[in-house]
Amino acid sequence: MSPIPKAELHLHIEGTLEPELAFELAHRNGVDLPYADPEQLRSAYAFSDLQSFLDLYYQLMDVLRTEDDFTALAEAYLARAAREGVRHAEIFFDPQAHTSRGVELDAVVRGLRRALDAAPERHGISTKLIMCFLRDLPQESALATFEACRPYFGVAIAGVGLDSAEVGNPASKFADVYRLAREAGLRLVAHAGEEGGPEYVREALDVLGVERIDHGIRAIEDPELVERLVRERIPLTVCPFSNVRLRCVDTLADHPLPAMLAAGLLVTVNSDDPAYFGGYVDENFAGIREALDLTDSQLRVLARNSFEASFLEDDEERRKALLAEVDAYRFPGQG
Ligand code: ADE
Ligand code: ZN
Repeated sequence: MSPIPKAELHLHIEGTLEPELAFELAHRNGVDLPYADPEQLRSAYAFSDLQSFLDLYYQLMDVLRTEDDFTALAEAYLARAAREGVRHAEIFFDPQAHTSRGVELDAVVRGLRRALDAAPERHGISTKLIMCFLRDLPQESALATFEACRPYFGVAIAGVGLDSAEVGNPASKFADVYRLAREAGLRLVAHAGEEGGPEYVREALDVLGVERIDHGIRAIEDPELVERLVRERIPLTVCPFSNVRLRCVDTLADHPLPAMLAAGLLVTVNSDDPAYFGGYVDENFAGIREALDLTDSQLRVLARNSFEASFLEDDEERRKALLAEVDAYRFPGQG
């Protein structure tokens, strides 16, 4: 049975680095990993919060060195995503996490683009690339990265995002670089309301002017904010497996997604860092279906939302066609 067609809008390409590929690249690049084998590495994936994950995540990135490494990483994700029913993907990458290790920006962007540019034909997936600023670094570093990426704006890089350690690093720290990004015509998103409270979401909207909120689960604690997100149709890219693995939510059964849907929020389901959190996007769909007892029509709404919330304004024909595919989809057991 083929999975329901969907867009993935919250996916860190570095978070798709599977232990097997990490070992292969480590061997190729002469990098010593402090683990005996992929199984031992995988068994280290027990996180107590966002920071405990980020520590391992940035450490493992050290195996990514060459343009070919980035192509291999993105190609592996796209092949997997195609099997998960993904038809459109808006993909994050963290330039600072690579340039700070001496990897050329050009190797990162060209390597990723090589896989992304082949994806429509090879995998039936259209893509956009979004550069994220690391919010635990100073805005000066974000500004320098933004300027270094300027040659790629438009075709190669479609937007900017904000990720890494949220609490203590509010959106207002990045007001200047987001103003420049808006002036450059880029799309604007930011992680907010993952570990941080509703005030982080409000700041991302008011100070950065973002069009979409990544995570945003804690917005549900503030009825006035919820009303605004509904009124302005601001999408929230929710990542259920991630929220449980990073202990933002106790169990899948406790996830606020049903309350978010009931409130009328434009919610989408995504995988965040699937190699670390126990599943790709269709496993997230299957997991919430089971744990939260979602109906087929709720799953169809989530799939529709993913295309509605995507930045496909430059190809409305494709958006319409993909929405029609969702409407025509028959769930297993459905006549
Ligand atoms: N970088 C990769 N995954 C992230 C997440 N879930 N939150 C913040 N930064 C991240
Ligand atoms: Zn994320």
